[in-house]
Amino acid sequence: MSDTLFSPLQMGGLDLPNRIVMAPLTRNRADDVTGEVGPMQAEYYAQRASAGLIITEATQISPEGKGYVGTPGIHTPGQVAAWRQVTDAVHAEGGRIVVQLWHVGRISHVSLQPGGQAPVAPSEIAAKAQTVTREGFVDTSAPRALRLDEMPRIVADYVHAARCARDAGFDGIELHAANGYLLDQFLKDGPNRREDAYGGPVENRMRLLLEVLDGLATIWEPERIGLRLSPWSSFNDASDSDPDATFGAVVARLNGRGLGYLHLVEGNTGGARDGDFDALRARWQGVYMANNGYDRDLAMTRVAEGKADLVAFGRPYIANPDLVDRLRRDAPLGEGDQATYYGGGAEGYTDYPSLETA
Ligand code: PHB
Repeated sequence: MSDTLFSPLQMGGLDLPNRIVMAPLTRNRADDVTGEVGPMQAEYYAQRASAGLIITEATQISPEGKGYVGTPGIHTPGQVAAWRQVTDAVHAEGGRIVVQLWHVGRISHVSLQPGGQAPVAPSEIAAKAQTVTREGFVDTSAPRALRLDEMPRIVADYVHAARCARDAGFDGIELHAANGYLLDQFLKDGPNRREDAYGGPVENRMRLLLEVLDGLATIWEPERIGLRLSPWSSFNDASDSDPDATFGAVVARLNGRGLGYLHLVEGNTGGARDGDFDALRARWQGVYMANNGYDRDLAMTRVAEGKADLVAFGRPYIANPDLVDRLRRDAPLGEGDQATYYGGGAEGYTDYPSLETA
């Protein structure tokens, strides 16, 4: 019998009870000064512990890695202690949770950067994209290009965050190399115009990603490290001229590293499912997590056909803490209120009912 969305999966020593993953969702409710989460986030994630796996909201690895108001960090002792409340709460409910490690690169604003500095990027090209500061939506600031001698420090920042993630009690980490943030900016030839060892041919553009993965593997078993890519996405003004070739080469180099999973944004982030993701998936030799625009039918079909091992649901998880139960029963889904997606308090965050309580 073939697998279903509701069959268990052994992944990297974790027993996932089903194939439904809570995708990373930016909710901007951390303390903007300290970057710490609190009891509210512990409750929010614990409510969603029936997911096969929870991936936290994108979480910055360093002050420089921050690009939005109210996003959490995983690089200070206070942040570690705060996340510990979250991992304890999720584990107490029988769940599994990994933290998504994030450096935004050029998708930031000087008002969010240490000392009001320019954000960093592969090249000095501003993104035609917006971010959110305390004052609301603004254009991203012009970045400065990272110097060659800064690359080891970037890798060290990821390694430090990976160690913090371990200390905070996470079950693993997901490296965010998608959606036009720093590592994706290096991978794609639109934002990366470097002429040194980190730019030009794809072997050079993937250098930073591979160095970061090597660094993370000094802290975590490779099987506890997942990776997110978005080859065909133009989100945050990051596009590649030949995504199939670029990311085919990347996946070929990733095979053999024993990573826990590959998490692919299939098509344009939050948009059309365009792109030859089945061909890329066929090249990947590990656990494959699919994301982007999935509903129950598509998820059931893709898992049954062997086209996905896991399916990550984003927006449906906002208003349906018991999404697994609702999908299993084919029950109607609650609709999230867009006005409370980003920022604010418990309203629109921890107050969505489960079927049982509704
Ligand atoms: C966002 O904060 O808008 C955001 C963060 C991470 C993503 C995509 C969007 O991958």
